[in-house]
Amino acid sequence: MTKSLLLAALAAISLSVVAAQGIVPLADKRFTYDNIPYRVDTDVGQPRGEQKGYNICNSTTEGPSSLCQTAFINSLDDFCLWAPAEPGHTVGDIEGEMIAWCTKPGHGTRVIPDGTILGVQFTKSPDYVQVVGFMDQTKINMIAGDAGGEMDPHGADRRGNPMGGLLFTNAWTGGMIQAVEWHNFNGANIFCLKACDPRGPRAPQMCEHIYDTQGCGFNAPSNVRNGTFESCASDSQSPPGQGPPVAPASSQCSTYESTAIYGASASVTVQIPGAATMSFTPTKGAPTTTSRPTSAASSSPGAGTSAGASGSTSSGGPAATQTGASRREEVARFGIIGAVAVLLAFAI
Ligand SMILES: *[C@@H]1O[C@H](CO)[C@@H](O)[C@H](O)[C@H]1NC(C)=O
Ligand SMILES: *[C@@H]1O[C@H](CO)[C@@H](O)[C@H](O)[C@H]1NC(C)=O
Repeated sequence: MTKSLLLAALAAISLSVVAAQGIVPLADKRFTYDNIPYRVDTDVGQPRGEQKGYNICNSTTEGPSSLCQTAFINSLDDFCLWAPAEPGHTVGDIEGEMIAWCTKPGHGTRVIPDGTILGVQFTKSPDYVQVVGFMDQTKINMIAGDAGGEMDPHGADRRGNPMGGLLFTNAWTGGMIQAVEWHNFNGANIFCLKACDPRGPRAPQMCEHIYDTQGCGFNAPSNVRNGTFESCASDSQSPPGQGPPVAPASSQCSTYESTAIYGASASVTVQIPGAATMSFTPTKGAPTTTSRPTSAASSSPGAGTSAGASGSTSSGGPAATQTGASRREEVARFGIIGAVAVLLAFAI
């Protein structure tokens, strides 16, 4: 390498490091529901380019071409997942460009097609709300067999995956609140989305974002069962990475037929479980109330480390190089490469 090439490389590296430092992290941005900007991500000159879609979503954006990147997790019948806008790419390849797919219309997003969701458990714990479920991931533009990966409001450059992605919920107060810390793993026909209550003390820990390759069983252990659709109160998990993953006890579960809560035949608005005054009377779909005790995550189907796991780890592909931990390592590596380049430049 000539000296000028080396200097040019050094300059490029320094610029990208300096530029990345100017970014306002997505996890530091706060929005009220009535004051969402057209695009949350403003760091358009950065290496990853512009935000894929937009955050103001309405009836004109809704439908199969929506690029809405404002998602929700309100209840068993009303939540969204981050999935590709077009088929043909693994989650790991385009986690920065994922868009919102929601169970019902009304959010200005794409609508998850009938037959996609095969079983779900919604839980509300003292620290978070969460959905974990089984799906046919090909129906939301994912590649069959893709072991998937993680979306969260962080990433190497802190612009989030997806960049500019927002998540709101009305499950905590009844009004829409931004879930600042959240994680969503989609892969191996399993999904989990957890939104951590920003008013609680443990939101960043409960929604930890560094275990990208560990999947739902590790990051969001639950009592989900394939074929069952239920909404429960729940104890809180241990924060991911702190002790073995154990599915916390869930209680006050109400179960529904999928046709009662999803698709054109949907007629039930599922109430949030676990409120101190459990006085609601579901109008339809007469839920059965059950309790299930704590169980080891590994014993429930699909709650192993499969979702978003091995594929991204073993492939050495983009997902594997983009784990939260390795992202930080990448940043650190850039610093080291820069320092080495400086030394070389002076030596030449
Ligand atoms: C609907 O959303 C689009 C896309 O974000 C935006 O350009 C438009 O202004 C919105 N319409 C209204 C009435 O808010
Ligand atoms: C869930 O159940 C459906 C229907 O029985 C089945 O086709 C699908 O493979 C199951 N999903 C997983 C991940 O086991």
